[in-house]
Amino acid sequence: MERTTLNVAVIGCGNISRIYLKNLSGVFGGVKVVKCCDIDPQKADKGAQTAGAKAVYDPEEVFNDPDVDLVLNLTTPGSHYEICRRALEAGKHAYTEKPLSLTFAQGKELVELAGKKGLYLGCAPDTFLGSGLQTAIKAVNDGLIGRPVAGCAFMMCPGHESWHPSPEFYYDVGGGPMLDMGPYYMTALVRLLGKAESVTAFASKAYEERTITSQPKFGQKIPVKVYTHNAGVIKFANGALVTVVMSFDVIKHRMPNIEIYGTEGTLLVPDPNTFSGKVVLSTRENRDGAELEQVSGYVDNCRGIGVAETALAIRENRLSNASAALGLHVLEIMEAFTRSADELRPVELTTTPPPMIPLDWTADAGKLKTLAK
Ligand SMILES: NC(=O)c1ccc[n+]([C@@H]2O[C@H](COP(=O)([O-])OP(=O)(O)OC[C@H]3O[C@@H](n4cnc5c(N)ncnc54)[C@H](O)[C@@H]3O)[C@@H](O)[C@H]2O)c1
Repeated sequence: MERTTLNVAVIGCGNISRIYLKNLSGVFGGVKVVKCCDIDPQKADKGAQTAGAKAVYDPEEVFNDPDVDLVLNLTTPGSHYEICRRALEAGKHAYTEKPLSLTFAQGKELVELAGKKGLYLGCAPDTFLGSGLQTAIKAVNDGLIGRPVAGCAFMMCPGHESWHPSPEFYYDVGGGPMLDMGPYYMTALVRLLGKAESVTAFASKAYEERTITSQPKFGQKIPVKVYTHNAGVIKFANGALVTVVMSFDVIKHRMPNIEIYGTEGTLLVPDPNTFSGKVVLSTRENRDGAELEQVSGYVDNCRGIGVAETALAIRENRLSNASAALGLHVLEIMEAFTRSADELRPVELTTTPPPMIPLDWTADAGKLKTLAK
């Protein structure tokens, strides 16, 4: 008899694994965490204890286990490509934290490999499945702002060396504000506005070296190998021009996270790194704006909802929402910011994001359902 629960093995039991393990072991159905793997045995043991799963210390044990259906890749970005590739080659579905890979070429290879093998490959973020962004997406789709013509997206902060215990990776190849935080913003923009067509951008870095002021590495210097300030414009296929700034070089700012401007109104969109937040619509008649009613109960930290929805998609044999195909379009946009800056020219994009599969938001949190057609 076919199993209705998907057996999941987590590889990478660090910081972010805690919320995934909590939600996948308690909140969302359809999935069961059976193995927790980390090259750091203490972390694997701790994850396994939380999930009531078996601890393993070598990813090969996961790839070779016939009971594992899906590999949940929560390693750091430099390992995303390799772990996903090995999982797919071993015949497992996979779901990875963002970004899909460090380069568009690697991401494309993974999407093609999953397609060839007939396997699902999912990719974070899944915050766009939360109530805040779903409310904003519905408002745009329902025509509340008319025809979208422009927008802006700002993620600006001073960087992470004042609080993160090991902030080096933020300034190494594969780090920087664009690859670290861009996935949240680009995914939200793509779900709000559809396919992105081209990017024109400049980039810079304010410092060649940073000094760690957090413990335990207080005083250590970090060489900055990536751009830490990206400023540009994304042109969407629907004609909307969105101004984007992603920066680790700004002490404080007072700009919105995201705003979308349409012919009939302006939409204030909440922080795309969260599952909830106010959505405010301003129109010609009410320029001060009114808060829109949230469309679903997915307002808490629901990280893992993308994995649960992938499991549902596998059972229903349909496209999943937090898919690698979406992650690849996002990765292509992000890489285009750097390419455009390096080559001093607009960069045309080649990929198209898959459609959003509507979910039934009246279902209780944890009981995901596809919207009946
Ligand atoms: N920390 C956050 O707040 C946060 C939020 C959202 C997304 N993310 C994303 O989640 C991912 C993980 O971030 P984190 O903060 O949990 O990092 P982390 O460093 O705390 O944890 C990563 C874990 O992966 C393990 N690991 C690395 N390579 C491995 C390999 N090849 N095989 C097995 N284990 C391996 C490490 O030992 C470590 O325990 C990143 O892609 C990050 O962008 C993090």
